[in-house]
Amino acid sequence: MNRLVVVSNRVATPGESRAGGLAVALQAALQERGGLWFGWSGKVVREDSGRLHEQSDGDIRFVTMDLSRHDHDAYYNGFANRTLWPLLHFRLDLVDYTRETREGYRRVNALFADRLAPLLREGDTVWIHDYHLIPLAALLRERGIGCRIGFFLHVPMPSSDLMAAMPDHARLFSSLYAYDLVGFQTQRDVERFQDYVRLFGGGKVRRAGSIEAPGGRRLRVGAFPISIDTRHVAQQAQSAMSKPAVRDLRTSLEHRMLAIGVDRLDYSKGLPERFRGFERYLQRHPDQKGGLTYLQIAPVSRGDVTEYQLLRNELEQIAGHINGSHAAPDWTPLRYVNRNFAHATLTGFYRLAKVGLVTPLRDGMNLVAKEYVAAQDPENPGMLVLSVLAGAAYEMKEALIVTPHDLDGVADAIATAAAMPQPKRVERWRAMMDHLLRYDIHAWRQRYLEALEAR
Ligand code: G6P
Repeated sequence: MNRLVVVSNRVATPGESRAGGLAVALQAALQERGGLWFGWSGKVVREDSGRLHEQSDGDIRFVTMDLSRHDHDAYYNGFANRTLWPLLHFRLDLVDYTRETREGYRRVNALFADRLAPLLREGDTVWIHDYHLIPLAALLRERGIGCRIGFFLHVPMPSSDLMAAMPDHARLFSSLYAYDLVGFQTQRDVERFQDYVRLFGGGKVRRAGSIEAPGGRRLRVGAFPISIDTRHVAQQAQSAMSKPAVRDLRTSLEHRMLAIGVDRLDYSKGLPERFRGFERYLQRHPDQKGGLTYLQIAPVSRGDVTEYQLLRNELEQIAGHINGSHAAPDWTPLRYVNRNFAHATLTGFYRLAKVGLVTPLRDGMNLVAKEYVAAQDPENPGMLVLSVLAGAAYEMKEALIVTPHDLDGVADAIATAAAMPQPKRVERWRAMMDHLLRYDIHAWRQRYLEALEAR
């Protein structure tokens, strides 16, 4: 088996407590074949000395690099998260068109290439992750790297009209032609990318899944819906019920039902809409009023970026308004918490909640939806309310599917979930859980790597 090299902006170095299912799966793949994980160290320094940090764990080497403040601002806070993130989430209205950050993004990708290229060997399989590093394969090829290189986009691929509206789009998106395999979350993402290739990218779609770039180079594209470590989450959730944080939450509910949302504080997650949908539920379903408490956990994310700061202010205002208008002396309808919790604790919270709210305006996949399902008690599972605009909706068909902007629809789905009889809940849950047991994170990485390495 070839050595595996994983490249991503964030690297889950050994001992990191935040490491989620993706990190575990990639580490398992690296451990199996021996390998290297390369990326940003997470440190911002005054001046970049070019020094690399190195750690090992068994047969895995972790090599990371710092970024200077200037580079980090342009690449991470700038182009990746103020231009690409909104564009890829269909938010042309939020895109920042600054030229400097676009150059900074290329500069940092070139730094990645300069530092990674000398570590690569012929015969390596290289797997590059997400929108931070789109041009990396092309930059590695310019440095003489000929090995197999795959890319996986964790976020959505928007409609080709939106992509083409970005100035200089061809320079960025045609760099995807340097990969051997470009993976997306859903078949719809693949189709939107193929449309872009045909309509604006100067290439041809030879047959579905096979692309010819303008110079004649051929590459493959495909859907590889990412998943979770289903069995592990189910076990974690069961044992988490005895954790103090989970018991305290249960006691605090005083026999009321719990609805839960867990999202990074990001505008793509549709939190203002969800809060308003919950308020609409309180208005439209007075018979249920006082019987259900909604807990929203929303750890602050990308706090240096203006749009994220504005969102935080907006949510505080809406939460205050809802509680001000609807709370009773002994009941607060909405609990809004900005801190983060250990993964195991969250799985316990999911299991306590009879309603799971996952209503992003756009999401490549959304693993909270999958984890919420995997964490349920098989005898008495909760019900998932899921946005039709999340990649997960293509797989979790037995959830209550909603349009996140449709407040009446969200309100009624919460009421339906809260009142659904147990046999119906069990039936829907079983179908989703069987799917997740079969298509877990390990199946995902195996399928991707097999496709990348196929002759
Ligand atoms: C999304 C992206 C990831 C990113 C994560 C957290 O899931 O697809 O690439 O790592 O958000 O965002 P952050 O900016 O904190 O890395």
